[in-house]
Amino acid sequence: MTRSSISRRTVLQTASGLLVAGGLAPALAFQNEPREEIEKDLIFRSVKPRNGEPELAKLVKSWQTPTELFYVRSHAPNPVIDPRQFKLRVEGMVRRPRTFSFDEIKQMPTVSTTATLTCAGNRRSEYNGPEYQDVPSVSGVQWEGGTIGNATWAGTLLASVLKQVEVTEGAKHIWFEGLDQIPKKGSVIGFGGSIPIEKAMVAEGPGAPLLSHTMNGAQLTPDHGYPLRMVVPGYIGARSVKWLGKIVVSDRPSPNHYVATAYKIVKKTSPLDWSESGPIYRFPINAAICTPSAGSTLNAGSVNLSGYALPSGRNGSSIKDLLVSADDGKTWTRGEMIGKKQDFCWQLWNAQIKVNANTKEILLRATDSTGDFMPARIPWNAKGYLRNSWYRLPVTVK
Ligand code: MTE
Repeated sequence: MTRSSISRRTVLQTASGLLVAGGLAPALAFQNEPREEIEKDLIFRSVKPRNGEPELAKLVKSWQTPTELFYVRSHAPNPVIDPRQFKLRVEGMVRRPRTFSFDEIKQMPTVSTTATLTCAGNRRSEYNGPEYQDVPSVSGVQWEGGTIGNATWAGTLLASVLKQVEVTEGAKHIWFEGLDQIPKKGSVIGFGGSIPIEKAMVAEGPGAPLLSHTMNGAQLTPDHGYPLRMVVPGYIGARSVKWLGKIVVSDRPSPNHYVATAYKIVKKTSPLDWSESGPIYRFPINAAICTPSAGSTLNAGSVNLSGYALPSGRNGSSIKDLLVSADDGKTWTRGEMIGKKQDFCWQLWNAQIKVNANTKEILLRATDSTGDFMPARIPWNAKGYLRNSWYRLPVTVK
């Protein structure tokens, strides 16, 4: 699938002000103003494109993440899309290829679900820590533990859209393509995702993928994919393609760079390594200590800890055990899960632990009901994905 195969009439202007559409008179374009961005309360690791994560202490104030605190991970400036011109093309191994307008999508039955999104690069900066002296440093956005958020999404079931176009026998994967324009090695590509058809066809329950137009009860903001994005509960954020412009039904995973090359666990960024490794779909268990913050000076004695824990993205997975240690893993104290527990969502937790002058780090580990666990150490990978080893919070104790 090439970039030019997407209707560019839907993309009118990039955030940097460049007109990129063909065929539409700009005067006509914005009788309906495109959705304004809201003010975000994030630490921006880059602003062009926008990549930001919240302070961890703010992130765990509520189970449902307010949109202003929801991380943003984008590979290109936000495209500005006029919803009146928006078209979603659905084609490939289908009997009735079809183009949907935004109104047609909105008129289909609306389903609402709460699901955690997390970036495969969450906690990437830890791969450049002291543990990994003998391996090359990992480039990419140096995320700490904040590229995770739990929002309520509403939209149309992917399975309903696929039913309308009548998927043919032999189809195995569903590709998504975004309308953003990412400069890559002298050309421009779109951001693509792809999921196996078994996941795409889930039509009931919290694991069902959605074409979402609503986040936390309001229209999506440009940062989060306005007017329409995928939300694939249980899968890494990269599969939840924003600014959705095209869906292709195929017998193989998408050849798009972000499926065929990026978002894979590889030791080297070479064609052989890419071909030997499959795309990452489901996210593994992960957890972080969010208060106190890293580097805090604490008084000896009892300390309150809080954070998030995300069970692996399987049906029915929940956090089983969450343990913290202030003596380098010699003894462990159990944390208490608090608030809501729902499939494909994180849980928040509290713990109390005693620290003394010998405490240099507070450790955190967790297991889930499907047998997934956070390992003490995790092998390095070249792109710095899926960092989910024990969380280590450096502290000084007086
Ligand atoms: N979709 C498009 N079109 N372009 C992107 O850069 N980034 C992906 C995904 N969808 C991306 C995209 C990645 S890597 C993540 S983690 C999530 O969007 C982040 O979603 P958010 O910015 O709404 O938090």
